[in-house]
Amino acid sequence: MRRALALAARGRGRVEPNPMVGCVLVRRGRIVGEGWHRRFGGPHAERDALRRCEGSVGGATAYVTLEPCCHYGKTPPCTEALIEAGVARVVAAVADPFAAVRGRGIRTLREAGIRVDVGVCPAEAERLNAAYFKLRHTGRPWVILKWAQSLDGKIATRTGDSRWITGAAARREAHRLRGRVDAVVVGIGTVLADDPDLTCRHVRAKRVATRIVLDGRLRIPRSAKLVKTARQAPVLVVTAQAGLRGRSAEARRLRSAGCEVIGIRGRGGRIDLGALLDELGRREMTNVMVEGGGEVLGAFFDEKLADEALVFVAPKLIGGREALDPLAGRGIGTMAEAVAFGGARRRWVGEDQMISFRLSDDLGTRRRVRGGS
Ligand SMILES: NC(=O)c1ccc[n+]([C@@H]2O[C@H](COP(=O)([O-])OP(=O)(O)OC[C@H]3O[C@@H](n4cnc5c(N)ncnc54)[C@H](OP(=O)(O)O)[C@@H]3O)[C@@H](O)[C@H]2O)c1
Repeated sequence: MRRALALAARGRGRVEPNPMVGCVLVRRGRIVGEGWHRRFGGPHAERDALRRCEGSVGGATAYVTLEPCCHYGKTPPCTEALIEAGVARVVAAVADPFAAVRGRGIRTLREAGIRVDVGVCPAEAERLNAAYFKLRHTGRPWVILKWAQSLDGKIATRTGDSRWITGAAARREAHRLRGRVDAVVVGIGTVLADDPDLTCRHVRAKRVATRIVLDGRLRIPRSAKLVKTARQAPVLVVTAQAGLRGRSAEARRLRSAGCEVIGIRGRGGRIDLGALLDELGRREMTNVMVEGGGEVLGAFFDEKLADEALVFVAPKLIGGREALDPLAGRGIGTMAEAVAFGGARRRWVGEDQMISFRLSDDLGTRRRVRGGS
């Protein structure tokens, strides 16, 4: 199963909104075939493994990281392929929460006389596909907060200058991350201060992220790089519904420049981030990376809407009471509230460190079941 999980991970960035799935076929104690779901719309892991099989798979055991599908989607059902191939046993890490499957895949296999065992390495399988599970259970994408800071925890100097805090290797890594998420989100403050284009450069992108700006009053200038490049990669300007009513001419101009402009319900004078995530979930976005600035990152943190933090720490000092903080919201009151799930992982990226940690539990996210409270 661990081999199947490692194969599954190769699909990251190419298969979403589908899950990453791997499959290993074992016959008489020997691996006779292996495969994984390589890209959205392509064959599922089971069919990929069967296709690459050496010899017969009659009587074999299939180790799959997710319950095999039993419905016609972009491809025919995997249960059918496993039954036709004569597989004797299927071992699945976890059941599929997708409404069209949800236990039916297991039932179909059992009805065909195949022995099915579920629950081998379930924690690893749920961790691998945490974003997929969250989207299926809550209707919202996985939210990654990403920022670059100095050793003394600043994301910009007192004048707002932040170019560059980290070195070239860390910036390349940040581009690689952009190249595998569905969207990157920034606040209008960052657009006005830095005029970023938020595209994925210097590395090969696995998918094209939609660039989202939270701009409650439609202040984004038409000369902004984001607007000028809107026809090269999608730009979604999110404004408050109330703001949109008074600025329809500006919205029209942005639309004619190639941007999509939508109004989201407001909350306390700001865009309601929960409603925004519901909208992105409806668009089947699986992973969303919030890149700043401090106000927007702080709002996601305060509202407990983030699932993961990715922090690049540079060996530089900025200092100054007025220099900007990464989570410039309300923050927590006591250390007892500072919950992090799973240990932080850290690695060097050039002269900088990249620290990542989970803010939500793979299972904890399930408490907010779609349609629930
Ligand atoms: N080091 C890094 O990794 C990094 C990354 C990005 C930015 N930065 C730095 O951060 C600075 C900009 O940060 P900032 O904090 O001033 O601005 P920001 O977080 O980029 O944008 C804040 C603005 O977004 C709008 N907004 C809409 N909905 C919101 C919501 N629900 N919550 C919060 N804001 C919402 C608000 O403007 P409206 O009221 O008009 O809607 C708000 O004033 C720049 O100096 C930039 O260089 C650093």
